[in-house]
Amino acid sequence: MNEPNPFLNPARQRDLYGHASRLAGRTSALMRAKISGRPVPETIVSLVQTHHGQPDRLGVVLDIGCGRGTSSLVIAEQLRPRRVVGLDAAPSLLAQARERAKELPDNTVDFVEGDFHDLPLPTGSSDVVVAAFCLYHSPQPRDVIAQIARVLAPGGLAVLVTKGLDSYQEMDRLVASAGLDPRAAQHESLYTAAHSGNLADLAASSLDVIAVLDEEHVFTFDGHDHTAQYLATNPKYDLAPGLYGNPGALAANLHEFLPDQLLTTRSRITFVLAQPIEGQPA
Ligand SMILES: C[S@@+](CC[C@H](N)C(=O)[O-])C[C@H]1O[C@@H](n2cnc3c(N)ncnc32)[C@H](O)[C@@H]1O
Repeated sequence: MNEPNPFLNPARQRDLYGHASRLAGRTSALMRAKISGRPVPETIVSLVQTHHGQPDRLGVVLDIGCGRGTSSLVIAEQLRPRRVVGLDAAPSLLAQARERAKELPDNTVDFVEGDFHDLPLPTGSSDVVVAAFCLYHSPQPRDVIAQIARVLAPGGLAVLVTKGLDSYQEMDRLVASAGLDPRAAQHESLYTAAHSGNLADLAASSLDVIAVLDEEHVFTFDGHDHTAQYLATNPKYDLAPGLYGNPGALAANLHEFLPDQLLTTRSRITFVLAQPIEGQPA
């Protein structure tokens, strides 16, 4: 029997985000493989510049599920709002985000611990709310979007970002053909709760959707060693004990069962832009 989707399983959150190293390792393996697709934080900045009425005079920008603060810091540097608030449930990621924020010339970013189902911000307090690659961790993403609608100021903008359900499916085929998890392609997508195909509908439950942008991002991993660095961080598969979280052991298994090879894989990234519904009190 399949275990519950690990992205929706509260018991897996410590393993996923209890240490900053898994997310950092995953991001670094993916970024080294990237051959096409704009960096997401920069796309977020340019979407705010295009779709917010006063992008040069922003007060608070809230970045929920901010993780290690990658988008929060780019927003602080490039949009220069009065304040950026990064919110996340994982203390270890927030600690790393705070360390990274020390590199910024001005102290305009706060990182706070909290649950995005119950945002600790006043109603109407944020000019922009960003939710990047985090709504798929909620079994009730509509509730999170209702919170976003509540904290958005009139004229504010929500930037919601997620991935397509079939992102990285080429990885599934590799994992199956190496015999590491023969059912790799049958597992539920990690992104089921909030994905490219349903994000605009989810947003429309509390907000007015004004634009949707889809981008294809392409990654080429330069061989089993590189692929294993990413696979070792992916909780989707039923791997033999000792392989998850262990890129060296995973790479050794791949080398044993398949000739070394480049792996090209794709991910659809979807950006949904939305505003408070006019005339509706927050
Ligand atoms: C894949 S990371 C995305 C990090 C960042 N937004 C980015 O784009 O790199 C997902 C983040 O959502 C956070 N998260 C999951 N459930 C949460 C919740 N209920 N409240 C706040 N943050 C949560 C995790 O701790 C993790 O940092």
